[in-house]
Amino acid sequence: MDIFQTTDRTEQQAQTMQRYYRLHSKIYDATRWSFLFGRKRIIRQLPDLVADPAPHILEVGCGTGYNLKHLALRFPNARLTGMDVSGEMLQRAARRILPWRDRISLLEQPYGEENSGFNQKFDLILFSYSLTMINPHWATLIARAKQDLKPGGIIAVVDFHDSPFSWFKRHMANNHVRMDGHLRPALEAEFLVEEAKICRAYAGIWAYLLFWGRVEVV
Ligand SMILES: C[S@@+](CC[C@H](N)C(=O)[O-])C[C@H]1O[C@@H](n2cnc3c(N)ncnc32)[C@H](O)[C@@H]1O
Repeated sequence: MDIFQTTDRTEQQAQTMQRYYRLHSKIYDATRWSFLFGRKRIIRQLPDLVADPAPHILEVGCGTGYNLKHLALRFPNARLTGMDVSGEMLQRAARRILPWRDRISLLEQPYGEENSGFNQKFDLILFSYSLTMINPHWATLIARAKQDLKPGGIIAVVDFHDSPFSWFKRHMANNHVRMDGHLRPALEAEFLVEEAKICRAYAGIWAYLLFWGRVEVV
């Protein structure tokens, strides 16, 4: 894959997201609590895994800032960066994070396949319901996150896992979500597993993944 192809697909995926969230940003917080399960749970466990009392934290695809707020509360001395391709989602995030604006920065840009351009490495990177929407290059971004983490750094992922119902997978695909159980093996191949859980939603209509992993210290 050459650099022009990777730039192209990063750009195309970003434009798809921008179009989708132009409308969905308006109803996001009113609706997503009913199906984006596990977001508080993934964060609750993080203080036990992150040793630095003043960690640098990145959330990829921070949306309206729901997790940034909870991360700021759990890590009172952290510096946080929230990155997203959707300006509309970030406008809502900016309002939500106002009380912590001295230590949370928002970046409107895609997390892409090329060097992310950060001049630091992170103690923790969170992907919350973003990786299943980053298609087709989700695996490259998992590898990118490994590059952007310090040795011993933590990756935390909460996302859709799979569904036994093809109609449901089709419905999710129409909303740009890939749901093929594909994230867990890729994460397990790249990181030391601290914990991984598959949880059922709505009596098994779908399952979601909680994954906490660590970059090996060599
Ligand atoms: C389902 S929302 C999740 C938002 C938030 N993390 C949460 O848990 O509520 C997915 C978000 O990922 C963002 N996103 C998708 N692809 C991205 C990319 N390549 N780089 C950065 N953000 C991306 C979308 O714009 C959207 O705001």
